[in-house]
Amino acid sequence: MSDQERRSTGWQLEQPASEAYERYLVPPLFAPWAERLLDAVELQDGDRLLDVACGTGIVARSAVSRVGERGAVVGLDINEGMLAVAAETTDAEPRPPIDWRRGDATDLPFPDGRFDVVCCQQALQFVDEPSAALEEMHRVLASGGRAALSVWRPLEYQPGYVVAADALERHIGDEAGAMMRSPFPAWDGDALRTLAREAGFDDVSITIEIGSMRYPSIEEFVRREAASSPLAEPIAAAEGTVRDELIRAVEDGLDAYTDHEGVVFPMESYCLTADG
Ligand SMILES: C[S@@+](CC[C@H](N)C(=O)[O-])C[C@H]1O[C@@H](n2cnc3c(N)ncnc32)[C@H](O)[C@@H]1O
Repeated sequence: MSDQERRSTGWQLEQPASEAYERYLVPPLFAPWAERLLDAVELQDGDRLLDVACGTGIVARSAVSRVGERGAVVGLDINEGMLAVAAETTDAEPRPPIDWRRGDATDLPFPDGRFDVVCCQQALQFVDEPSAALEEMHRVLASGGRAALSVWRPLEYQPGYVVAADALERHIGDEAGAMMRSPFPAWDGDALRTLAREAGFDDVSITIEIGSMRYPSIEEFVRREAASSPLAEPIAAAEGTVRDELIRAVEDGLDAYTDHEGVVFPMESYCLTADG
């Protein structure tokens, strides 16, 4: 698709999904959660940090001021588009500089024991082989190193997305519904703990963290989520009347979370910390 085609108006794709992700989802959602993850892992001056599946790099960027000039920060992702936005969005000369790397979480391009801290925010659920990714995170940690991962709790704990996924399934199709559900794996805390232990981690601790997400309207909720994901195409391809029905269904379903400023709903995540 050409850039011009992407920039047509309304529900058509206005920008690549990576740019929409950085614009719509990072400031209100992933940036505050990144600070919580870095607090949980007690990142310190001088630490060498790896942000696995960094996306547009919010965890890595938030880590820079905490590790200081004596530290090091690397962000790794499999998606070139996400990494391009990460590089564009980074301050001109962060100290330390951030090393953006393309790579696969299940085959990290680093020697054993290279990092003091490994973080992975809301990405383990998207990796084809989560066990292999956890083993790799463990391998690249130095002795005494620490890891922190966040993974959304199952869909039943995400009222906004239960409603959106059901409405998408009904009005756009099964695949669209499945896409909206994909960030919310069925893992419970015990399953996550077992995965981490089997990968070699010690002292695995899991907390339930609750935050919230706000949008100025239901239409913006659906539009921004779609723009930041592969949902944009099937929604843009639907008839205008179908999109109207989709919005109405989400409005009806989220009536209890609608207020004077739009819509707000809780979001729940596991935060896993462990020693290497
Ligand atoms: C929801 S985003 C989270 C990005 C980032 N951690 C954040 O907090 O904004 C999930 C990311 O996982 C990346 N990803 C999925 N599978 C991967 C893999 N096998 N190796 C590296 N990155 C992967 C995707 O490209 C995407 O950027």
